[in-house]
Amino acid sequence: MVLRKVIGTFCPMRQQGEKLRVSIEDITVSYNDLGSEDSPVILFIHGFPLNKSMWEGQLLAFQKTHRVIAYDVRGHGQTESGTGPFSIDLFVTDLLQLMDALKIEKATLCGLSMGGYIALNAIQSHPERFSALILCDTQCGADTPEGKEKRMKAIESLKKESIETYAEGSLPNLFAEESLKSRKEVVEAVRQMIITTREESLSKTLMTLAERKETCTRLKDINVPVLIVVGEQDTITPMDAAQLMHFKLLDSKLAAIPNAGHLSSLENLQAFNEVVREFLSSTDSIGQLSD
Ligand code: MLT
Repeated sequence: MVLRKVIGTFCPMRQQGEKLRVSIEDITVSYNDLGSEDSPVILFIHGFPLNKSMWEGQLLAFQKTHRVIAYDVRGHGQTESGTGPFSIDLFVTDLLQLMDALKIEKATLCGLSMGGYIALNAIQSHPERFSALILCDTQCGADTPEGKEKRMKAIESLKKESIETYAEGSLPNLFAEESLKSRKEVVEAVRQMIITTREESLSKTLMTLAERKETCTRLKDINVPVLIVVGEQDTITPMDAAQLMHFKLLDSKLAAIPNAGHLSSLENLQAFNEVVREFLSSTDSIGQLSD
């Protein structure tokens, strides 16, 4: 009841389209919001250091059956950074405030990699707000000491080297070898997403990822259907990490995407959308608040 009253005050009418903006606590969030108001909602959360445009192929495919929303995480794409440090908890607070501002009581969350970290933390702290999860190329583990060390080195390098250099170093890890050769336009789109991210946001997010806590021990408490998707050639969050989540979750399906590395939704759009479509059709999603 309280939620209805508050959101009714701030957002009397839904805006629909692309590059929309909404103010939450201390920042303005940029988002795309397509599909019918009455359809079940899917919220897409991008990976690092990308932005909402990575979900274009999913928004196009699923807007016929769902209300589909992709937003830029704080400091990425067109969403403001605010002034303080980032944290996964802050990203989760932003997500919940975005849902309130858009009058979404309950949604399916689809997160890739960092988006998956946010999704897992969000459902663990606010289970009542989510009806299903799609975890793509992500993991429940925290960074190893070596992983943290690598992030610290990357933060140091970003002070000395250009973001273009950072992007060149990242691309071979994000894509399957074959995609790097044959999917030049997708690789270029991702390069653009990286080089247009502000250096300060890259560093703050690298620190956030290094400091994030594991979510594996609480996977057993998630009681909504979960689809785990992993690119067969993902080396950042490989099949082992996906299988661990699958083993610990009560109700999950695991789908391997051929011809794809860490960015399975981009590298093999067709296969990715197919497994998501199948999952959605088997899932009862609950839509947003009605006035
Ligand atoms: C991502 O794609 O979001 C990143 O690879 C996540 C990470 O580095 O842990």
